[in-house]
Amino acid sequence: MEYNPFLPEVKANPYPYYAQLRQHAPVYQVEGAGMWAVSRYDDVLEVLKSPDRFSSKILMTALLGDLNPVPNASNLIASDPPVHTRLRKLVNRGFTRRMIAALEPRMRAITTELLAPLASRGACDLVHDLSTPLPVIVIAEMLGVEPDHRGQFKRWSDDIVGATNGVAGDERKRVAQSIAEFRDYFQRAIELRRTEPKNDLITALVRAEEEQQMLTSEEVLSLTTLLLIAGNETTTNLIGNAMIALLDHPETMARVSSDPTLIPKVVEEALRYDGPVQGIFRQATEDVNLAGARIPAGAMVLPLFASADRDERQFPNSEQFDIDRNTDGHLAFGFGTHFCLGAPLARLEAKIALEELLARFHRIAQKEPTVTRIDSFILRGPKTLPLTLEAIA
Ligand code: HEM
Repeated sequence: MEYNPFLPEVKANPYPYYAQLRQHAPVYQVEGAGMWAVSRYDDVLEVLKSPDRFSSKILMTALLGDLNPVPNASNLIASDPPVHTRLRKLVNRGFTRRMIAALEPRMRAITTELLAPLASRGACDLVHDLSTPLPVIVIAEMLGVEPDHRGQFKRWSDDIVGATNGVAGDERKRVAQSIAEFRDYFQRAIELRRTEPKNDLITALVRAEEEQQMLTSEEVLSLTTLLLIAGNETTTNLIGNAMIALLDHPETMARVSSDPTLIPKVVEEALRYDGPVQGIFRQATEDVNLAGARIPAGAMVLPLFASADRDERQFPNSEQFDIDRNTDGHLAFGFGTHFCLGAPLARLEAKIALEELLARFHRIAQKEPTVTRIDSFILRGPKTLPLTLEAIA
């Protein structure tokens, strides 16, 4: 068999390829890419549990290359313990469950505002009208971006996320310019918070830096960049993937519409069944034996969360979307050291988006027979999701 994550047919539907990998080549070297794909649940877990043998340091370079706006600072997602432990402790302060839960009324208000024009239209593109703007507005407000900079912030966010998929030529120049503007704006914002603290995440991070001299300004900036990369398109994809799963399973859609308390189960099963982050990079720090393969020191490793979450050994009937299953232990948010900082935020945004949609529309149907997916092998979600909507009278 051949697995190449860059091929369009694999990006369109990687799951049959993952099944083949799990069965025949659980640790597989991708032809020509020098990269080792890890596909079984236990082996993915082994990689994530072993930052000493599978380092994350390569990550920002792998994702952004020389477009990284903060190349010289340690970045949370691209550091190993003990540097990671220090950064994570500080950053956790801005993302406690209580703080996230307190955002709920505002998230609902933003969702309501975004959905308001759709009822009379009777149609929408879920990606354009709801799942893209919602996480961007939420994170902008959390960071403390002024309302008149929202448009710019959205452009910077789109460009930074776009840069992770590779850009070339004139487009690259434009993106580099946009990333420089982003850097400029947040550098000034960080300095400003020192004399004029506000009730926002930038202030919380700057305080951590001043009180304990533990986070440098560059680290705050680096973290801000990461929040855009890690938090926006991923949440967009979760909302889109969950909606696709419901559209493909009308009996579940009907059940959930009449009993919205099931929505958290939909969110969890969508994370397991069709994860927004299919896999991520690590680098072997030494020669490692894994599932009978020998990964050489220095090689790039791709633990496939989305394949692990379809592993029959862990999730019986794994290819079925079943909101009644036990989803405990799914790896859509990773595991251990780098477990997603924004998981409670993403879960809450997805829950609110689905609740508010289903509360307004009693018939939601897909306008087009097939879904076009975004062009990425790391992220998975719909590029657009045109829907027809019938509002509840
Ligand atoms: C459904 C949406 C999301 C998914 C599927 C997701 C997935 C992930 C995964 C798989 C990792 C682990 C990466 C690794 O092991 O190297 C991760 C880390 C991270 N995520 Fe998320 N994420 C989501 C939303 C968010 C949001 C909303 C934020 C914040 C606004 C966020 C911030 C982060 C950060 C900062 C890290 C790095 C944590 C660390 O290195 O300690 N994510 N995410």
